Amino acid sequence: MSYKIKTLSGYFQEYQKSIDQPEKFWGHVAENFIWKKPWDKVLSWNFEGPDIRWFENAKLNLTENIFERNLVTHGEKTAIIWEPNDPSEEERRISYNELFALTCQFSNALELQGIQKGDRVIIYMPMVPEAAIAMLACARIGAVHSVVFAGFSSTALADRINDCNAKMVITSDGNFRGNKNIEVKAVVDEALKNTNSIEKVIVYQRTNVEVTMKTGRDLWWHEVIQNESKTHVAATLDAEDLLFILYTSGSTGKPKGVVHTTAGYMVYSHYSFSNVFQYTEEDVYWCTADVGWITGHSYIVYGPLLEGATTLMFEGVPTYPHPGRFWEIVDKYQVNQFYTAPTAIRALQAYGLEPLESYSLESLKVIGSVGEPINEEAWHWYHDNIGKGKCPLVDTWWQTETGGIMISPLAGITPNKPAHASLPLPGIQPIIVDAEGNELKGNNVEGNLCIKFPWPSILRTTYGDHKRCKETYFSTYPGFYFTGDGVKRDHDGYLRILGRVDDVINVSGHRMGTAEVENAINEHPKVIESAVVGFPHNIKGQGIYAYVICDMKDKSEGELIQEIKDTVRKIIGPIAKPDAVQIVPGLPKTRSGKIMRRILRKVASKDISNLGDISTLLNPEIVSQIISGAGLE
Ligand code: WTA
Repeated sequence: MSYKIKTLSGYFQEYQKSIDQPEKFWGHVAENFIWKKPWDKVLSWNFEGPDIRWFENAKLNLTENIFERNLVTHGEKTAIIWEPNDPSEEERRISYNELFALTCQFSNALELQGIQKGDRVIIYMPMVPEAAIAMLACARIGAVHSVVFAGFSSTALADRINDCNAKMVITSDGNFRGNKNIEVKAVVDEALKNTNSIEKVIVYQRTNVEVTMKTGRDLWWHEVIQNESKTHVAATLDAEDLLFILYTSGSTGKPKGVVHTTAGYMVYSHYSFSNVFQYTEEDVYWCTADVGWITGHSYIVYGPLLEGATTLMFEGVPTYPHPGRFWEIVDKYQVNQFYTAPTAIRALQAYGLEPLESYSLESLKVIGSVGEPINEEAWHWYHDNIGKGKCPLVDTWWQTETGGIMISPLAGITPNKPAHASLPLPGIQPIIVDAEGNELKGNNVEGNLCIKFPWPSILRTTYGDHKRCKETYFSTYPGFYFTGDGVKRDHDGYLRILGRVDDVINVSGHRMGTAEVENAINEHPKVIESAVVGFPHNIKGQGIYAYVICDMKDKSEGELIQEIKDTVRKIIGPIAKPDAVQIVPGLPKTRSGKIMRRILRKVASKDISNLGDISTLLNPEIVSQIISGAGLE
C-alpha cells in the first residue's frame, strides 16, 4: 500500500517526487500490480506526434489484477452490489469469486462467438452488473470495448459502430429507468440497418419485453454462457494494447473515439481511486454515474475493482419512485463514499430538505462531485445536508481524455475550499496559459488549462484519426495537452475550474458539441441554418439554446419548434434536445462569414447589457431582431 497518501505533507512529498522523477515514481506505483513481463522503460513520449507509451513492452492482463491478484485475500468479499430501478425487486450482491466466474464464462462465450484480440465490441446496456461483466470479459480476452450510453439514439449508435468498425453489439432486451420501460434491443435493430460490420448481437434479458431475434446474428446472453467454463486463461496483452474506445463530443464535427490503453489506464484509474476517495477495506463505495460515460468506466468498474472495493451500481434515477431514493440507498447499504454530479445535487436540492428527513446518512465518510463546475450554493447544500458538515467533499476535475481524476482534493487530507478542484494529483503538471500560450506563473492568475507532462492514462489517439487527436489536443498550444477548460489559480494556489472555453457545452454533466447539435437540427427539411450556444441553467448547469433560420411556409412556428426538438432527440438522443429554440430571420455574421456566437450567448443568457462591438458585423440590424424575438427588449 505504498501508493497510498495519508497526510498533507505526504501529499506534497509524493507530488514533488512525481515531478522530479516521474519514471521512478510511476515505476514504483506500478510494482503493486502483477505483470506477465516487466517493462523495459517506464515512459517514452513526445506531444508533437503525439506518441506516448507507458510501461513499454510490459505484458499483462488488467483483469488478472482485479481477480487473480485479489482473490486470495478477498474472494468472498462483495465486488458489486446492484440496486434495481424498482426498490421492491431484490438486489444482487456479487462476490469477487462470483464476478470472476461470470467474467470467465462470458470471456469463453465471446471467444466462441469469434471475438479475437483487437476486435471492437460495442456495449449498449442498462446499468446492470452484466454491463461491467461484458467490459471485463473484453479486457480479459483483449477485445476493445466501446460502451455507448443507452440513452443515445439508433443513429448515434450506428455512427459509433461504423466509426470503429465493430464486430459485435452486447445489449439487453429493455431497460427500466424510473417509470419508463425502454426498448433497447429495438434501438439496436434500427441502428444495424445502417451498419454492416456487426456479425453477432448478444442480448441480456432484463425486462422481458418482446424482441425480434435475427437467426444467425442474435443470441441470448443466458444461452451463450450456459455451457461455458467458469475459468479462463487471460490473454497476454501488451501495455499499449487498446483497452477501450469511448466516444465523446468535441467542438467540431462528429464525436471522436478517445482511445485508452491497458497498462497506463490500469495504473492511474486505480491510483487515483485509492487516493482521492481514501477507500479502506470494508467500505461500500457508490458512484451514481452510468457506465456509458468515463466516470462509470474509471470509478464504477476499473478503479474500484482494481482496489478490491465493494462498488455499488444503481439501475435507476435519483427521483424514482421518490426524491429520497439516493439517500434511501445510502442508508440501505451503509454507503461510505458517495460520488455524484452537481446536476443531480441541484435537482435534489430543489425538493428541499423534506426527502432527507427519514434518512440518517451517518455511514457517509466522503462525498464527491464530478462532471461540471459545482456552484458554491450547491457545494454548501451538499456539504451541509448530505455530508452533514463533516465529510470531506472531493470536487474532482478530469475528462474522458484524461482517463482519471487530475485535479481534486484528497479526501480528508487536502483542506476543502468550496467550488475549488484544488490541487493536482501526483504526476499531474497543470499549467495556466494566456491566449498566446505564455505560461502564467504564480497565484491570482486566470487562463486556459493545459497539462505539460504525460500521465499514465492520457489518451493515446482518437480512433482511426490520429491527426484529429493532434489537432484537437496538442496543436492549440504546441508542447502542451490543451484541456478546453478555463481555470483560475487563487491566492492560495488552489485551482478553480471555470468551464469550457471552446464550443463544447456541458448539459447536466454531459458533453455536447454545438456543431453536433447544429448538424442534427439541420437534418430537418425546413431548416436553412442554425447556431447553437449554451446558457446558464439552474439545474442542468448549462442548457442548449438553438437559433434557427427556417423556411416558414406551410407550418406554424410552434409546430416547427417542436419538430426541431424531436429531430435532435431522434438523431442524437434526449440528452441533446434543445431547451429553447428561437426561429430567427438571420444570424449575426462577421464579414468573413463566421457566426458571432458571443452575441448569441449573451441573448440566450438574457444579458444584453453589454453586447460589445457589433459594427464589424455584415448584418448588424439582425441583432435587434434577435433580441426582440427573444422577448428581451
Ligand atoms: C467538465 C467527465 C468543473 C470540464 C469526467 C471537462 C468539470 C469536462 C469537472 C469533461 C469539475 C468535469 N469541475 N468542470 N469537477 N469535472 N468537468 O469528458 O469542462 O464527460 O472538460 O468527463 O467536464 O467531461 P467528460
